[in-house]
Amino acid sequence: MVDDRWEHGSTFHLPRLESGDKMPSAVLPKGLTAGSGRIALALLLQHGHENHGWKRVWIPSYYCSDVVESLARIPIQIRRYPCGPLGTGPLPVALDGDVLMRVNYYGWGIPDPEHTFGGPVIEDHTHAPWGAAGSDADYSFASLRKTLPLPDGGVVWSPRSLPLPSPVPPHTAHEQAVELRLAAMALKAAYLSGAGIEKDAFRELDREAEERIALGHPSPLSAYSEVMLSRLPIKAWSEIRTENHHHLRSELAGAPFVTVLGPERPTSPPVAVLQVASECSRDALRAALIREGIYTAILWPIPSGTEARRPEDVEFSRTTLAVHVDARYTLDDMTRVARTIRALARSIELEAE
Ligand SMILES: Cc1ncc(COP(=O)(O)O)c(C=O)c1O
Repeated sequence: MVDDRWEHGSTFHLPRLESGDKMPSAVLPKGLTAGSGRIALALLLQHGHENHGWKRVWIPSYYCSDVVESLARIPIQIRRYPCGPLGTGPLPVALDGDVLMRVNYYGWGIPDPEHTFGGPVIEDHTHAPWGAAGSDADYSFASLRKTLPLPDGGVVWSPRSLPLPSPVPPHTAHEQAVELRLAAMALKAAYLSGAGIEKDAFRELDREAEERIALGHPSPLSAYSEVMLSRLPIKAWSEIRTENHHHLRSELAGAPFVTVLGPERPTSPPVAVLQVASECSRDALRAALIREGIYTAILWPIPSGTEARRPEDVEFSRTTLAVHVDARYTLDDMTRVARTIRALARSIELEAE
């Protein structure tokens, strides 16, 4: 990245691979790959409905609402139970045909329930797919495109070696969306390396691609992502994520008004989660960071009608920001981000006083 184009966060650009970059095959779980995380989940639920008699899925109240909405066409009832990054409330009593979803939020690990669920369990390992070893869930799935620089990708597997959903044929609408995303990623890479390209040239393509991929047309992983998945240096990148998170946390230690949440040293987290005092300060900090070229995420807004939504989760959703710590960034980048956050948080808090 050339210096006058320095920025942080937002969507991936096309990575430049060095000769010899190869990922050890054991890093990612083996399973059925698909076009996205939500496609992998939908294929799994359909498979469970047809083969295990699943009639109802319990999803944590704290979860990406777009993903839940995309499941509307699956012939399974969706219910929510109280669960979020800060812990699990009472689990539902498992009736015949019930399946429970658990989520590894931000690579912090799966929140521990007080008792076990009496039916099958699905785990979402999107935030740290390579940290899923040791899980005894019936099935697990992950979006790959959300944490790796791939235009599409998801995977479903069974830690208990149960039969997996059958592969689906390619879907033209998904393939076209992947083409758009690839174009956006290539143009962004050129922009960041100083080419005479305006940001608008890739941002609109990217937005359009995301809208189309998010429709979740049942589709396999694209040919491009299939090849790249076996070439990306995922193990090295996952170590960089751990170190970047650790470095950001150290640089923000003792900072007034901003707290980095979660375990001291999570394994390979995609983001660091920052908490500030109020929704108003959070929104002001996020806007000020955008002006400095630092693009953070809100993971996730929890709509007001969400079943089993708890006050502590609403508070978490409204007062936190996710700062990317993935392998696009060096320790120097993380220092720059931390210093900017410190300076901006202080001025925002002083204004609010
Ligand atoms: C935790 C989690 N699970 C699943 C998904 C769905 O993945 P995809 O967007 O690839 O369908 C997302 C995407 O935002 C996610 O953040």
